[in-house]
Amino acid sequence: MAFQHIEVKKIAGALGAEVFGVDLSKPLSNAEAEEVHQAYLDNLVVFFPGQSLSPEALIQVADMFGVPNEYPFAKGMYGYPKITPLVKNAEDKVNFGGGAFHSDTTYMEVPPVATMLYAVETPPVGGDTVFANMYMAYETLSEGMKALIDPLVGISSAGAGRVGDRKKLMNADSKGIQLQNLDKLSMEADQPVVRVHEETGKKALFVNFIHTLTFKGWTEAESAPVLHLLFEHLKRPEFTARYAWKPGTMGVWDNRASQHYAINDYQGHRREMWRVTVEAA
Ligand code: SIN
Repeated sequence: MAFQHIEVKKIAGALGAEVFGVDLSKPLSNAEAEEVHQAYLDNLVVFFPGQSLSPEALIQVADMFGVPNEYPFAKGMYGYPKITPLVKNAEDKVNFGGGAFHSDTTYMEVPPVATMLYAVETPPVGGDTVFANMYMAYETLSEGMKALIDPLVGISSAGAGRVGDRKKLMNADSKGIQLQNLDKLSMEADQPVVRVHEETGKKALFVNFIHTLTFKGWTEAESAPVLHLLFEHLKRPEFTARYAWKPGTMGVWDNRASQHYAINDYQGHRREMWRVTVEAA
């Protein structure tokens, strides 16, 4: 699609684009908002560098992508419960969202369609996020594998799985993140292994290493080899794009058709991102 109101610069062959020409601190016109939404659907993750967003403005931007909801396991910002500050202080060792590619909170019955991240403070170098295109991951499977996995349901869990201690993974030791509801770490939900995207109608692979434990009706031993194959496949470099955040960049990714991995390579430096997840409107 040719855009009239925004400029869209792809950052990689597989997915991801930077968007210029809009000031997200002010309401967008309908035409601008439609183009931004189209750029997000086309590219799966879009970044808006050079923004200056208050918490109120960030929530207003979130309204363009769906209905903001609350992350269950960390306290929101004071006065803005739907914004989760992700802070890794210089003395922290673990980052939030690292460890493996994932789609967010698939252990919730209705997981968020999109996640937004607004970069407040970034390390001098590092702290990038890698994204992977799950349409491509699905489309490049053999017809035999597609036929096997198309009807399957995956069981996603919030708790300890193949990544080990989830509290640690959420950076529980950090003063920057206040965990809550840890008694609900047993939360589980069924998700389609192949998700038909509600807006584009395309099929995307929808299992992830952090949360998907088994296929429904299969034993762990039966599920493990197929899941392992899919987890290895979905992170092939040709399906990915890596983004280096700068303060003032707002990014939003489509959890229905992409996965992401926060790289923990900035020990001794602080990184602060404001995170908002949205459900379908
Ligand atoms: C996340 O997984 O939601 C966080 C990603 C990041 O901080 O880069």
